[in-house]
Amino acid sequence: MHTPEIQIAKLYLENEDVVAIPTETVYGLAANMYSEKAVEKIYQLKKRPRNSPLIVHVESIAQCEQLVNEIPMPLLTLMEHFWPGPLTVLLPKNERVPQWITGESPFVGLRMPNHPLTLDLIHQCGFPLAAPSANPFSRISPTTAAMVEHYFKEDDVFVLDGGPCVSGLESTIVGYENNRVKVYRLGSLSLEAITEVIGDVSYEGKSDKIFFTPGRYPKHYAPNTPVFLTENIKETIQTFGLYKSQKIAVLTHSRIENLPENCSLFNWESSTDFENAAQKLYAKLFAIDQMQFDGMVIEKFPDEGLGKTINDRLQRASNQ
Ligand code: TXA
Ligand code: MG
Repeated sequence: MHTPEIQIAKLYLENEDVVAIPTETVYGLAANMYSEKAVEKIYQLKKRPRNSPLIVHVESIAQCEQLVNEIPMPLLTLMEHFWPGPLTVLLPKNERVPQWITGESPFVGLRMPNHPLTLDLIHQCGFPLAAPSANPFSRISPTTAAMVEHYFKEDDVFVLDGGPCVSGLESTIVGYENNRVKVYRLGSLSLEAITEVIGDVSYEGKSDKIFFTPGRYPKHYAPNTPVFLTENIKETIQTFGLYKSQKIAVLTHSRIENLPENCSLFNWESSTDFENAAQKLYAKLFAIDQMQFDGMVIEKFPDEGLGKTINDRLQRASNQ
């Protein structure tokens, strides 16, 4: 593909500037991993703490192998199975990985994203792209080019528009500890999908070896509007109905009748179509956030498959 947009993105990156890239999970804010200046711009734009390293996006397993000395067999199996796709692996880095990518971490996070524009861009650039999600620190990750433009309209960021992200939640981050695959961040790839390929894995969200646990800030992915997460939506709505001067958005997959007047309903089509909910979750939260409600009441999803990841993100959005 030689679209003008890819050529412009490539020029930006070669010029040590920053480009927002589409992926299947969320948009990323990308720079040439070998340019300290460009990577520094990412941290500045996001206002991201320096102790939070960046994922390196590669176009192939071969390109990943240039940055690490060894890949434990079960992780290689997962990479072969799920790449390109929403799986990030933490591997011990070699000397080719600059310190400005990883900070104090002895690991490098690697992922081959599943989006034709971004894969082509990495291929044409010839260098891997360091990219966190393209949101200011602790805000909702962007799943459309318009969301990225909203966040960085004042800045010199070229947005490569690849359409809405198809998965809509960040990648699942895994590593290898004590001869076992460990999941550090729930994501677009469910625990069940991983288990099907390599058997049982542990999800603890914390690690003996990795000093910094990925994606585990308690308050993260947060709208400005206060979020209240509930398992009992009907009861919660009745309670909020008593605060008549407050405008409340209700995001639910249950059927609700007799909604109090101060509440506005935003429905999911179904409680079990997790793919659909995951794909639209961030855009929906972002849109409701623009509508000036005093609060959002959100119904939890069943805690299985991608429902687990959705609940994890909603939980963090609700920690104010
Ligand atoms: O789907 C995704 O993973 C998106 C797209 C753009 O690829 N990226 C993303 O990046 O979500 P970010 O930076 O928002 O989240 C990555 C998490 C962070 O918590 C970071 O600290 C952790 O992974 N991480 C990355 N590299 C690491 C490393 N070398 N050691 C420990 N943690 C790492
Ligand atoms: Mg992020």
